[in-house]
Amino acid sequence: MIDALIILDDDNSPRGMVKTIPYLCRAKFQPVSGFKIEQASEASMLVMDLSLNSEANVSFIRKLFRILPDKPKIVFASRSDRQEIVQACAIGGATILGRAESKCVINLSLRKIFRDLGNPFYRVEANAAAAAAMRVDSLYADITQSAIVEAPLPESGILACARNVIDAVHGQGVDSWMDVVQKHHSHTYCHSMMVSGYAAAFGEELGLDTETINILVHAGLLHDIGKVRIPLSVLDKPGELDEEECGLVKRHPEFGREILSSQANMDERIIEVAYSHHEYLDGSGYPQGLRGDRISPLVRIITICDIFAALTEERSYKQYYSRRVAYAILLEMGAKLDRELLKKFRPVAFRSEFGELRRTVKDINARKLAVSA
Ligand SMILES: [Fe+2]
Ligand SMILES: [Fe+2]
Repeated sequence: MIDALIILDDDNSPRGMVKTIPYLCRAKFQPVSGFKIEQASEASMLVMDLSLNSEANVSFIRKLFRILPDKPKIVFASRSDRQEIVQACAIGGATILGRAESKCVINLSLRKIFRDLGNPFYRVEANAAAAAAMRVDSLYADITQSAIVEAPLPESGILACARNVIDAVHGQGVDSWMDVVQKHHSHTYCHSMMVSGYAAAFGEELGLDTETINILVHAGLLHDIGKVRIPLSVLDKPGELDEEECGLVKRHPEFGREILSSQANMDERIIEVAYSHHEYLDGSGYPQGLRGDRISPLVRIITICDIFAALTEERSYKQYYSRRVAYAILLEMGAKLDRELLKKFRPVAFRSEFGELRRTVKDINARKLAVSA
């Protein structure tokens, strides 16, 4: 099951803001000529990015909407094209959006559909971590969409995002943060929130000062921003990537550095993390094959958080590991990761179990007291 099936004209790639949708939820593009009805049944919503000046397209949409009356639908039209708007209204039964709509409108429309569909992210009980995750939802969507359409990244949005992550992890603990963000429909959101959440908890565990924790969390949020330049057909490809595709994916640190360097006031340490988070201490990483001391402590911290998040992220369509197995996998990476740091990451990785252990010990002691009294 995917979130959105986006049906396109055969000779067009997604237009305007349509291309940001797959970064806000799990979506697939489908040219209209190869469309099969089963694909529509397997998607939670349908998105039409078809020219509405074509009669064939309009009757295709009408027929599809008749077959699937209850499925949420979005129809894109060009606001400057009167005929398209008239056609979109005449089709009915769908949310109509302009191709040049603001990021916020696209995001709110999707969010409303997810909410109406009963998406678990929007059903979490109203605790402080959930409230923070919800605030970060639209802030982070705005950051990602800006990167996709090559607009300046919203500085105040990034700041607010980081603040919310730090406060939620500090106040409610890393586990409640992970519980909430894992229910989100977007892989991009989920991964970035997990990495920055672990970075906040790890920074605190290491006793780092507030400013450094702040940089770490910013770096966690933005470390994979370069992936917006990699085609979805490659990023979401089921199964093995070929050599060329692999080479392209490995360029995301370089793309990330480019995107972040072009922003005013971007801290060099955040750019460095985006560029070097796939480097390993033994020189086997990429893009530069850096070794040992040439990899800064901040990069090493994010690399641990990044791999741990990727391994433990619960997605229905990929294998994921328990925290125990994920931590064992990190240990098995041997000389690639910083052993001392990895040791110190243990209480962050097993925070809930440590919490449970503490509670059990307290419980046993309390019972002992009760017996002796
Ligand atoms: Fe990455
Ligand atoms: Fe990552």
